Amino acid sequence: MSKPNFATLKLFITGPTYIRDEIKEAALLPEFGHRDAENDLRFRPIRENLRKLAGCGDDYEPILCLGSGSTAMEASVRSLVADGETILNVSVGAFGDLYYNLAAHNGKKAENLRFDYGRAIDLNVLEDKLKELRPDVVSFTHNETSTGVVNDIKAVCALIRRYNAMPLVDGVSIFGGAELDLSNSGAAMYSTATQKALALPAGFGIGFVSGEAEEKAATVTGKGHHHDITKHLGRARKNQTLTTPNCTLANQMWRQLDYIVNEEGVQNRFDRHSAMRSMVEEWVGGLPGFEMFAPEGYRSPTVSTVLCPEGVTVSQLKKGVKEALRGEGYLMDPGYGKLNAALEEAGRRLVFRVGHMGDITPAMLGEYLGKLEAELNKL
Ligand SMILES: Cc1ncc(COP(=O)(O)O)c(C=O)c1O
Repeated sequence: MSKPNFATLKLFITGPTYIRDEIKEAALLPEFGHRDAENDLRFRPIRENLRKLAGCGDDYEPILCLGSGSTAMEASVRSLVADGETILNVSVGAFGDLYYNLAAHNGKKAENLRFDYGRAIDLNVLEDKLKELRPDVVSFTHNETSTGVVNDIKAVCALIRRYNAMPLVDGVSIFGGAELDLSNSGAAMYSTATQKALALPAGFGIGFVSGEAEEKAATVTGKGHHHDITKHLGRARKNQTLTTPNCTLANQMWRQLDYIVNEEGVQNRFDRHSAMRSMVEEWVGGLPGFEMFAPEGYRSPTVSTVLCPEGVTVSQLKKGVKEALRGEGYLMDPGYGKLNAALEEAGRRLVFRVGHMGDITPAMLGEYLGKLEAELNKL
C-alpha cells in the first residue's frame, strides 16, 4: 500500500471526535452475521448499556439505524407526524433549522419558531406559539451544537405536553456527555448518534422510542422503509437492526459502551464533561475581550462557544488561528460557518467553538487551550 498523506490531528471540533486507541483496536474484532446468534452478543449489551446511559428502562426502546443522527431524526418525523398534522420545530440555531428542514422536505405541515443565535428556548414565547398554532408534534434541539446552548429538556417537554403535543428531541451532540434521565424527560422520541459524546466513529443514528410513540407510529402511513420506526422496533426487540449494520462499528460500540458503563462510570463521565465546561469558562474569563457566547445556566457540557472581541474576522479565525493550530497537530473549530457568516453580515462579533466531548480529558483540553491562547494573543 502506498503511504497515505493523512495528517494525525487531535480533533477539538464538535464531532467527529477523538477516538481512543482501544476503540480503534476494537475495529479488529471478528466480523459477524447480523441474523446469527453472534449478533446478539454485540447488540444485547449495546442496547442495555444505552438504556443505562440514557437513564431509562423498558419504557424506551433503543433502535439503531444505519446512518447518522439525521437518519434517526428523519425517522421520528416520518413515523410520528401523520397526514394533516402540524409539526412545530423550535430552533435555537442551525440544528434546530435542520429538524424543520427534515419535516418540510418530507412534505409535513411544518412551522419553524426561531430564537436568536446564542439564546435558549424562551418558554413564554414558545407558549404563545403553542396557543396560536396548536401543533400535534413539536421538535427541538437538546444541545445546539452551532451555538453551544443547552435547552432545559424537562421544562420544554412539560410545556409542550401541557398543549397536548408530542415532543421529539434531538440529542445528537449531548448524549453520553450529560445526565439525561430519559424516563422523566417527557420526550416521546429522543434521537442521537455515535460520533459525538459517545466517542465512536459515525455510522448509527440512535433513537429511543417511547411506548406512546410506538403506538402512534403504528397509525401513521407513508413512513417509507428505513424511516419506519415500527419496522426498526420489530427488529430491535430481537436485538437486531432493520438493515445490515456496520459490524465494525458495532464491535467498537460494544467495547466503548462497556468501558463507559463498567470502567469509567456513567456519573464520572458526566462529571468530566461538566469539569471541562468549567475549564473553558475559567479560561475565557482570563482572556481580555473574549466572552462565553451562551448565557450562564444554558452552557453546553460538550461544546463551548466563545465570542471574540470586536474586529476579529472570519479570515483571521479560519486562515490564521485554525491553520496555525493545524501546524501544531490540532484541528480547531473556527465557528459554525453559517453562524459566523450571519453574525459578520449583521456587524456582530464572531464566535469560535471548543469541542470537549466524548473521551477528551481535562488534561488534553488544558494543553489545547494553552496552544489556542497563544494563537489568539496574536490577533
Ligand atoms: C445537534 C445536532 N443535530 C443533528 C446533527 C446531525 O447529525 P448527523 O451529522 O449525525 O446526521 C448534528 C451534527 O452535527 C448536531 O450537532
